[in-house]
Amino acid sequence: MKEKFYITTPIYYPSSKMTLGNAYTTIAGDVIARFNKKLGKDVFYLTGTDEHGSKISKAARQVGKSEKEYLDEIIEDTQSLWKMLHIEYDKFIRTTDDFHERTAQKVFTELYNRGYIYKGSYKGWYCLPCESFWTESQLVDGKCPDCGREVEFQEEEAYFFKLSQFGDKLIDLYTKNKEFLQPQSRVNEMVNNFIKPGLSDLCVSRTSVKWGIPVEFDPKHTIYVWIDALSNYISALGYGSENYQLYKKYWPADVHLIGKEIVRFHSIIWPAILMALDLPLPKRIFAHGWIMFGGDKLSKSKASDVKECVDPRVLVPLYSADAVRYMLCREIPFGSDGNYTSEAFLTRINADLSNNFGNLVSRTFSMVRKYFEGEIKQADEVTQDDEDFKSNVLSEVKNVLQYMEELDLTKAVTSIFEIFSLANAYIQKVQPFAVAKEENGRPRLQTIMKYLLETIRIGSSLVQPFLTESGEKVLNALGVNTDLFEDLDNFEGLKVGNKIGELAILFPRLDVKAELEKLQQYC
Ligand code: MSP
Repeated sequence: MKEKFYITTPIYYPSSKMTLGNAYTTIAGDVIARFNKKLGKDVFYLTGTDEHGSKISKAARQVGKSEKEYLDEIIEDTQSLWKMLHIEYDKFIRTTDDFHERTAQKVFTELYNRGYIYKGSYKGWYCLPCESFWTESQLVDGKCPDCGREVEFQEEEAYFFKLSQFGDKLIDLYTKNKEFLQPQSRVNEMVNNFIKPGLSDLCVSRTSVKWGIPVEFDPKHTIYVWIDALSNYISALGYGSENYQLYKKYWPADVHLIGKEIVRFHSIIWPAILMALDLPLPKRIFAHGWIMFGGDKLSKSKASDVKECVDPRVLVPLYSADAVRYMLCREIPFGSDGNYTSEAFLTRINADLSNNFGNLVSRTFSMVRKYFEGEIKQADEVTQDDEDFKSNVLSEVKNVLQYMEELDLTKAVTSIFEIFSLANAYIQKVQPFAVAKEENGRPRLQTIMKYLLETIRIGSSLVQPFLTESGEKVLNALGVNTDLFEDLDNFEGLKVGNKIGELAILFPRLDVKAELEKLQQYC
């Protein structure tokens, strides 16, 4: 039986202004999902939208629509954006889906029945945009510690979850299971900033927020958006319904991929809820950093300050989904913050995609056509240079697999491009053009071409989860499997005697200056 692999990304707050920043987690999740599928695993990739809370009602009112009308349009738009970016999810969950609402209610009722939720009254500071409660001591200069905006003091009847009981259990979890929360710096942050100072019980219902899921046994209360939202990871699999086969098969999640600002919810509140329900915990929570645009995270509400063009709907038609996916994975060290600029994006297209990958493929293909009428020949005479090249390529492949296991997408894709660089350097070193002119050069030339084609096969297969379109094109032209990784540890994957297919230029070179000017009109 295939090994299962359940990966989730956060469900997004619906927004009509999705930027590269918003797309980051979902692209990264897609790369990891595709890579694991190619490793032969039975992958389930979940994403969706987080649709409750007063912010949504407010936004809908502003445009004179009902919440549902407002949401339906945005959600359609979001799904079309994911399609444009070649994101292939197995399920798109909306927290307004009936089955989700029922599961969230069951989670809440079960926590209450088990004595983990009690009724009290809430007094505290509430950040409306973040939908988060804060204690006085957590505020920074009297403002929300997450977004820096004004908070308001609120008091109302509310239900509370006994989060305070889980501090030691969480520390125990982080200590015994080093994989649970990564990178490790996030563990220190959670322990020092939240758990050591003492966890407070969490307010988990509101009477003032109407656009939410009613508490089953006390419907004037709506369920706190984060309890609602976090439950999506199990409701999507049918937990709490009669049809829970997917839950049985896929839970616990193998990876919850999230951005760093929502670590607290995923690594403190979510495991506490699951522990209270006696359910298995996710195996791994991985928090990536932020993409900074001109020094700003570009949260949706600040989008207007930004000078770079960060709209994937502009960038994809101009430069391809592959280029956007590559840029985000390569440029921002996965797990840390990193800067995005249009200039760096265009430069990477030229240097990495066009000069390195694209050029390697096109010159190798044209040599194979020129010397062997496009036929893949058996390797024949082998020299030390060829052996060294092959062993360098195969050892780089091991690095790629290791980095992907560690979810270090940046190092993985850098290593894949190192494979292409090795091949370009090999051409430089062994001079196939000169070998072709030698009287007895043919046996050696066969080896060089075969080794280059095998390297392109391996590199394109590894790169396909990142560069979905061009990776697939190259593999098709070589006549090999695009669904699974095959023969990654040898140079025997191509069928000798086959002819290579036609292949157009993968990434035309750009005039960076002219493109920058063009992009100005969209800033
Ligand atoms: N709705 C919550 C998640 C609930 S999960 C149970 C939420 N939504 S969000 O729309 O604000 O964010 C979704 C994802 O986008 C998060 O992982 C967030 O980190 C990511 N990003 C949004 N802007 C970003 C950048 N500029 N850079 C990197 N990621 C960012 O949080």
